[in-house]
Amino acid sequence: MRRVFVVLAGLLFLAILAQFYFAAVGAFDRPRDDDSFALHSITGMVLIPLLSILTTLAAALARAPGRLIGLTLAPLGLLVVQVLIIVVGNVISGGADEETGLAGLVVFGLHAVNALVMMGAAAAVLRQARAFATGKSTMDAPQPAPVV
Ligand code: HEM
Repeated sequence: MRRVFVVLAGLLFLAILAQFYFAAVGAFDRPRDDDSFALHSITGMVLIPLLSILTTLAAALARAPGRLIGLTLAPLGLLVVQVLIIVVGNVISGGADEETGLAGLVVFGLHAVNALVMMGAAAAVLRQARAFATGKSTMDAPQPAPVV
């Protein structure tokens, strides 16, 4: 099960990497239409959530330390933030079809920053999953006793 955990964490990392690629595909598609971001949409709304949930499930079944299981939830939490950024940006702009004002653009830009944070979280999950599988995890190390 530890191997399955590592494989799923690796696939999650790769899916997030691909998501950056699909963002550029959408941005350069000409003429821009509703399908331009189709791959980005499917990967973001289906593939990444699915892989995130399976990774957490595999971590739990592999009896990973609680802190590591918690860490596997980070990419999914950040994905919710990704969607919220779009929702808030649209509300501030007065609707998805309205012209984006400065305030809306400032919010939308956070989608790229949060994407980097998500990538970092997925990398950390993969690193820790590999350490756990090879018995080198420090996440279940006992906490040092408080100095009195
Ligand atoms: C961790 C990486 C990323 C994730 C998980 C992610 C996720 C998402 C999701 C879930 C949506 C909503 C799709 C929908 O409503 O159907 C979306 C839309 C969008 N994302 Fe990302 N995204 C990521 C990175 C990026 C980057 C790096 C950019 C560009 C710099 C970008 C640009 C966009 C744009 C322009 C849309 C709106 C597309 C449209 O109008 O249909 N995303 N993203």
